[in-house]
Formats: sequence, structure tokens, C-alpha cells
Amino acid sequence: MFKHVFFAAGFLLCLSFSSVRAQNISNVKVDLAPTPPMGWMTWNFFGTDINENIIHEVADAMVNNGMVKAGYDHIMIDDGWQGGRDNKNNIIPDPKKFPSGIKALADYVHAKGLKLGIYSDAAQLTCADYTASLGFEEQDAKTFASWGIDYLKYDYCHAPSDSNTAKIRYKKMADALKSSGRPIVFSICEWGGRQPWFWAAGVGGQLWRTTGDVRDSWKSLTHNLDINANLSAYAGPGRWNDPDMLIVGLRGSKGPAGDLGGTGCNDIEYQSNMSLWCMMASPLVATNDVRNMNTEANRILLNDEMIAIDQDALGKQADKKTANDSWEIFEKPLFNGDYAVAVLNRSAAAQTTNINFSELGLDGKYEIRDVWEHKIIGKGKSWKGAVQSHETKVFRLKNISKK
Ligand code: GLA
Repeated sequence: MFKHVFFAAGFLLCLSFSSVRAQNISNVKVDLAPTPPMGWMTWNFFGTDINENIIHEVADAMVNNGMVKAGYDHIMIDDGWQGGRDNKNNIIPDPKKFPSGIKALADYVHAKGLKLGIYSDAAQLTCADYTASLGFEEQDAKTFASWGIDYLKYDYCHAPSDSNTAKIRYKKMADALKSSGRPIVFSICEWGGRQPWFWAAGVGGQLWRTTGDVRDSWKSLTHNLDINANLSAYAGPGRWNDPDMLIVGLRGSKGPAGDLGGTGCNDIEYQSNMSLWCMMASPLVATNDVRNMNTEANRILLNDEMIAIDQDALGKQADKKTANDSWEIFEKPLFNGDYAVAVLNRSAAAQTTNINFSELGLDGKYEIRDVWEHKIIGKGKSWKGAVQSHETKVFRLKNISKK
């Protein structure tokens, strides 16, 4: 419900800021992803162990638990759906996992108010060694369009490591999608190694992974944060940095995010995941078992004030204003003139801090709304308070100087 609000006006305003952008935006198809894409992806809970019943159950759950209403409007099928090619070289789904076919699945999720994403790779095989799209870009794009696919995540396993080949292969698929006859969001997934923030929008991507795969741990979450937080200059409507899926609610469950030391986070850390991803205008892609979501995961993923900050029409990624061993402070200007300010305590103990808003470049007096408490907690030129270890406080500041 927060998507597209004030989008047209926001886009015009953003265009006026384009001179400060680091890239030429002439190629960017803003209308495909005016705000960061939202949804749920199969990967981190199910891995390749997926089938059409799971997708049906997830779609039903996302309607019933409020996710669709809150804006999580895509289901993305990650790796493991493919069943090879038929005798005309058309890519086909695994007939055991998806006996009714992907078109029937798209019809099912579309009827629930959801869009359907799918996955392939810019080589002959995907990361999990399934059939991929190199050499079949136009044919596969047409197949995806004919099925009613709305979003393609395009991976880079088994492909040469140089940037030039990556640009050529991603452009090939982006062009194929453009001429497929259906608007399909293009998500570039080469994990940041070839600095896609410089070229991904130019070749036709609406979002690009900036990091390796997130694991279900505080260490992994902050690793991805540290890379993505420095890239604010490259994000904007139609072009988003992607620090990978949300790990909220995984709780150390089996699956890819639990591999390699992902033993789970506590709820304060999961809340920080949501806070920081929203501040960074990141795609919000849950990957926990939404069919059995606990109260805390539901509270964190469905915080409408937090989602509104992520989906704000201005489309600015927060800048990191302060960083030391203990504290990080992020600031995100919003379309209506408010500012979102996030305070992260990275240390192992609770701490008290005093933030003068003028030190963040915010002069004047502000009404301070705590986005997690859902209430106005004060008025003034500063905030002083305690922040738990690994907690992120998020405030929405409204300038009230003239009142
Ligand atoms: C890569 C991607 C992951 C996931 C897997 C699937 O590791 O980065 O997000 O798509 O491939 O095999």
C-alpha cells in the first residue's frame, strides 16, 4: 500500500537531483521499480527443495498474515525449479516439482494480488548446477513472459570473472526481457565483485546485489551492511543496491542461510536487519518460513512505518553520518521533508548516547517519532537515550522550527 504513493511527483523531484548522481540515468527504466522491490524468496529456507505446493502455501500465508497488504507483493522462485529443455530447446520446469507448470503457478499467485519472480544464470548452468540461459536469452525471456513472470533474478555462477563479459551477458538478457512483450524487473546477481553499481543500471538492471550471500548471523548481516552502506550515491528510483535478502525470522533454521556458521540472530538483531535495510532503501525480500511466522518476525517484517521509510518516493539511500567502534548513525531524507535517523549500537553492551541533530546537518527543532515504538517521544534539537547491544533505534524527525 505504500508503493507508488506520490511516485510521479517524487520522480520529478528526483530528476532535479540527478546532477549529483554518480551515473547517467538516461537508460534507467524507473517505472519497473520506482521503489525498492518487496517480496519473499524461496532460497534461504527451502534451498532447492521447492515445489508448487510450497508456493501455493506461501502465497496463501502472505495474504493471510498481512504481508501482501504491507507491500510484500512478489514471490520469487530461486534456483532449483528447472527441468532442462524440451526438444525445441524451451526451458521447462522440473515436472516432479512443478507438475502444473509455471504459467498455472503465475495465474495462482496473480489471483492473490502477488507477482511471480523466477531465477536463471548468465552461463550454461546455475549456481546449484541447474539449466541456465547463456545462448538462450531471447528464447528464455519469451518463455518467462509467456508464463506471466514479473521478475528475473539473474545469477553469475560458472561465468568468466571479468567485468566486460558480465556487462555483455547482463545486457543481453536485459535486452531480451525488454523485447519479450512483458514488463519484467531485472535483478542482477553477481555479488558485487565487478562493482555493478557503476554499470548495472546502464545495462538494464533495476537492482543489483552488492554483496555475497547473507547468512543467518550478526557477523554476516554487518558484513553486508558495511559494503552496502557506502554505496548510497548509486541508488534511486528504478536503480537499487541490494545487500541480499532479509534474514528476519530464520532463527538458525536449516537451509543456505544457516550453512557456514549461520546459527541465527536474536530478535533485537533481526529488528536491526529490518531497520538498516529500510534505511538503505534496500529491496525487502523475506526468506523465512512465512507459513509459520512467530509474533516477533511478524511485528518486525510488518512494521508499516518502517516499510514506509524503505518505500519513500524520494528513493534516497541513507548516508552513514557517524561511524566508530560503538556507534553508527544513518540519515535518510524523505519525500515530505522529514528525515529518518537510525542509531545502531554495534558494541557488545548497552550504551547511552546523546545525539545533537545539528551535528547531522539538521538544524532547528524537531518532533521525534520512534518508528518501533509507534509514538512521538519528544521534541527538540537532540535525542538522548539507551540503545541495547546490536539494537537500531529509528526516528522520524519532523521539523517544527517555524511553529
Ligand atoms: C547464489 C546466489 C544466491 C542463490 C543461489 C542459488 O549463491 O547469490 O542468492 O540464488 O546462488 O543457487
